[in-house]
Amino acid sequence: MSGKGMNLTLKIWRQKDAQSTGKMETYKVNDISEHMSFLEMMDVLNEQLIASGDEPVAFDHDCREGICGMCSMYINGEAHGPDRGVTTCQLHMRMFKDGDTITIEPFRAAAFPVIKDLVVDRTSFERIQQAGGYISVNTSGNTQDANATPISKHDADEAMDAATCIGCGACVATCKNSSAMLFVGAKVSQYALLPQGQVEAADRVKNMVAQMDLEGFGNCTNTGACEVECPKGISLDNIARMNRELIKAQVK
Ligand code: SF4
Ligand code: FES
Repeated sequence: MSGKGMNLTLKIWRQKDAQSTGKMETYKVNDISEHMSFLEMMDVLNEQLIASGDEPVAFDHDCREGICGMCSMYINGEAHGPDRGVTTCQLHMRMFKDGDTITIEPFRAAAFPVIKDLVVDRTSFERIQQAGGYISVNTSGNTQDANATPISKHDADEAMDAATCIGCGACVATCKNSSAMLFVGAKVSQYALLPQGQVEAADRVKNMVAQMDLEGFGNCTNTGACEVECPKGISLDNIARMNRELIKAQVK
């Protein structure tokens, strides 16, 4: 081992573009510090690949602090890797040890097609949001101050918890059915719990669920895997709430 860092073998999914067939390729990286983030380790690999005239591995990232939900990697068979409550950018190399082989794949789901290497197209989530993830606000000049609407502490807290969903897609990638129910449950709950969300409540849940089905996400069979892998700790209660909202909307 050179220096004091870890020497690692990386098995990474390489795919030229959406049309090509991909395959796993093996790479070595040496002297990786335990203090690095997983993405910093990937940066080291890419510098190495560029230096040797090879194509760097394409992967999505933006904030690198657990906010944007872009860094979708399936690491050693787990969405965002072996740690809990973190995204790939927040995953630290101290979770691995010298000599490890790490398998890195894109998030896999029919509704998340691979664009290149580890980059997937998650615009299906955006289309679900566009189908109902909003509220109408009176901007006529008589707009009511948000603070003038009383909301119980319990509902405010639950709505805030649901709103922490960053749309990363780990729930889908983890689910054997590729179900998006945790994501959609969080988005529906965020509004269902607040008075501002009541105006479009029935249409919202019906339209978001219809779009979810249209995009080809699978059904929920209550395995609970999504909750385990969600970096934001979104609770399964949100799925139950969405189902109640849907029944209410259909009865109306
Ligand atoms: S529910 Fe969790 S895992 Fe799913 S998209 Fe939201 S933050 Fe990501
Ligand atoms: S890069 Fe933004 S959440 Fe990881």
